[in-house]
Amino acid sequence: MSVGERRGRIRQALRRSARASGIVALLFSLGAGAAQAPSNAQLAGAELNRRVEKLLRQMTLEEKAGQLAQYSIGTPTGPGTGRDDYETLVRAGAVGSLFNVVGARETNHYQRIAMEQSRLKIPLLFGFDVIHGHRTLFPTPLAMASSFNPALVEQAMRMAGAEASSEGIRWVFSPMVDIARDARWGRIIEGSGEDPYLGAAMARAYVRGYQGKSLAEPTSVAASVKHFAAYGAAEAGRDYNTVDMSELTLRQVYLPPFQAAVAEGAATVMSAFNSLNGVPATANPQLLTGILRKEWGFNGFVVSDWTAVQELVNHGIALDGATAARKALTAGVEMDMESHLYGPGIPQLVRSGKLSQAVVDEAVRRVLRVKFALGLFEHPYADEKAAAYVATAEKRELARRVAEESIVLLKNEGGVLPLSTSGRKIALVGPLADSAGDMLGAWNGKGDPKDVVTLRAALERRLEGKAQLLYAKGTGILSHDPSGIQQAVKAAEASDVVIAALGEDASQMSGEAASRTRLGLPGHQEQLLQALAATGKPVVLVLFNGHPLVLENAQAHARAIVEAWHPGIEAGNAVANLLFGDVNFSARLPVSLPRSVGQLPLYYSQLSTGRPAGTTDLTRLPRSTGEKYISRYIDEQNSPLYPFGYGLSYTTFDFSPPVLSVPVLKAAAVKKRGQGVMRVKSQVRNTGKVRGTVVAQLYLGLRGASTAQPVRQLVGFERLTLAPGESRDVEFTLGFQELSFLDANAARVVEPGTQYELWVGDSSEATQHARFAME
Ligand code: NOJ
Repeated sequence: MSVGERRGRIRQALRRSARASGIVALLFSLGAGAAQAPSNAQLAGAELNRRVEKLLRQMTLEEKAGQLAQYSIGTPTGPGTGRDDYETLVRAGAVGSLFNVVGARETNHYQRIAMEQSRLKIPLLFGFDVIHGHRTLFPTPLAMASSFNPALVEQAMRMAGAEASSEGIRWVFSPMVDIARDARWGRIIEGSGEDPYLGAAMARAYVRGYQGKSLAEPTSVAASVKHFAAYGAAEAGRDYNTVDMSELTLRQVYLPPFQAAVAEGAATVMSAFNSLNGVPATANPQLLTGILRKEWGFNGFVVSDWTAVQELVNHGIALDGATAARKALTAGVEMDMESHLYGPGIPQLVRSGKLSQAVVDEAVRRVLRVKFALGLFEHPYADEKAAAYVATAEKRELARRVAEESIVLLKNEGGVLPLSTSGRKIALVGPLADSAGDMLGAWNGKGDPKDVVTLRAALERRLEGKAQLLYAKGTGILSHDPSGIQQAVKAAEASDVVIAALGEDASQMSGEAASRTRLGLPGHQEQLLQALAATGKPVVLVLFNGHPLVLENAQAHARAIVEAWHPGIEAGNAVANLLFGDVNFSARLPVSLPRSVGQLPLYYSQLSTGRPAGTTDLTRLPRSTGEKYISRYIDEQNSPLYPFGYGLSYTTFDFSPPVLSVPVLKAAAVKKRGQGVMRVKSQVRNTGKVRGTVVAQLYLGLRGASTAQPVRQLVGFERLTLAPGESRDVEFTLGFQELSFLDANAARVVEPGTQYELWVGDSSEATQHARFAME
């Protein structure tokens, strides 16, 4: 079949499936770039196929269904579905994957049953939620995104994968690449923030880290890119809620990180809980077959999220579990996580003629390919004699570096930071100052609070014999008991400076099922902060939190604000190194911080609207029709309190206006050449007194196109470390990918007659500007 014929058939099939599911057919852009080259070459090839087909021929229908079933043993991370006798199921070949089994002995126990007692001896694939570290906990993903340092994230996730694989876990449910623009959503911490370009860069880094050079390396783990798709746009920031969005937004904002991860070779994808434009993602052929398999050439397998197949009944698109299983499988969900529907249900569906054998075979092939590629048939077991986990100096060093690069300095009024040690009294106050468990963040895998260095511990060690540290907890994170505030105030009064460690509880207040409608500091912490500020002592607020918070009150009462997120096992050491200036701040916000909840969703790359507020003063009530009938609030500004890409340092940087390699571009040439059609250069200078790292950022805006485009969007970033007074050029290269956009048919185009604006600087409010035309 020719490529053209094949595309034609795919289009027809997609139209059929779109009609069948009763929704308006999306116009899939199967033009350039829609070739079905395999996403992961390791999951393709004659030898692999031969092995898969040989095994497939020997399998009974029940054994095939078994490969598509996944069960959780141990801590459930969703509603319970009842317990089975997993040993019996494994022995019968009725399980393809187990998860939440940890430890080499434990995984080996089940693996031995599969390898020694089941008929076909197909190894189990063990999965686990390794999200930002397994035993060595790194900062949360949102925090790591603040580093704008994908290479470092890759290194950290390599370590995470190696730790997991040493226990027989060869599959991690990460990265979460959901773009999130609503700080109310608890899961915003699991991803890389609001921006598709940064999100795609991070997505690639995670996949490279986990999967290494080859899946077959014993320290490699298969990644699971999740949650496909658009889960981060849950209405009103409420977890599991509905998503409804245009195809343009879906493709321009929400899909790029998924596509990047798949192109990087991600072996698996996890389908999302939400419905998308009326069709639940877990039974969505447009997403799972049309886009993922046909357009992107994905040749791994898709696992559902926890009980998401069963939840199709709640979504209202299936009357019973059997129908739910059929719909999910035919849409492209190859493995059922915890719904307990595929294992028993598939054989019945096939025998009753409701499900084709070919669909089942294709699903099994995909699962087996991943198992073969991981080398599980040759090396099914973990080494039980391997030394027990120790947070070695090497592991701590990496965890500390990642944390140092993830912590954002938001405010430093009057240069209150860096602190000096000598002869001073420092009050350390707040419920997060000494709370080891919370430093691990949500989804903390097998992290152990015992491995955490809290801020209190780090400061005690650092200040011993040099300065006095007065500690008072003040209040609990969520507590409504203000009785400790007085003691904290006393400590503040007796000190030269106050460090207030405030924020959110890691697992109750962020992560899954932890959406919030109020984003201030919980409990009595706002009150504590005000009482501390009232002493007149300078207050350095160190925030340990998951959600991006509303910091208006903090802004008014703290002289310095440090956004530390939940920074992992080296939390205290990293924060202390930054507070005392041993290490300079270099992180930048991967999300816009709102002024108030009413602004959400909030993101910098918005469309202009027909009535943009422009330079109107939005801090006061409108005084004229010109000030009133524009896109604004009457009681709040449009802008964030702190913008995307923003972060301070102990030094300052200057950018020269961008210089372009060519003054105009020709659309036809851009299409033809693809990459590297325009170079953009700017000179960056460290204008302060200390060495520092800046994240140089390039933003692009496009006017005169056939579809409305964001006022600006990130198209490049680079970290540069400069000595005081040092200048260096930063150069970005733009090609078709950066310069193109989606037209009304969702086709990627460059259009003659459009005008491009570029800004370079160190936040999304960058001002150094250049312009060029596309002819
Ligand atoms: C539900 C979560 O949505 C998903 O991210 C996670 O991987 C699974 N549970 C497994 O724990």
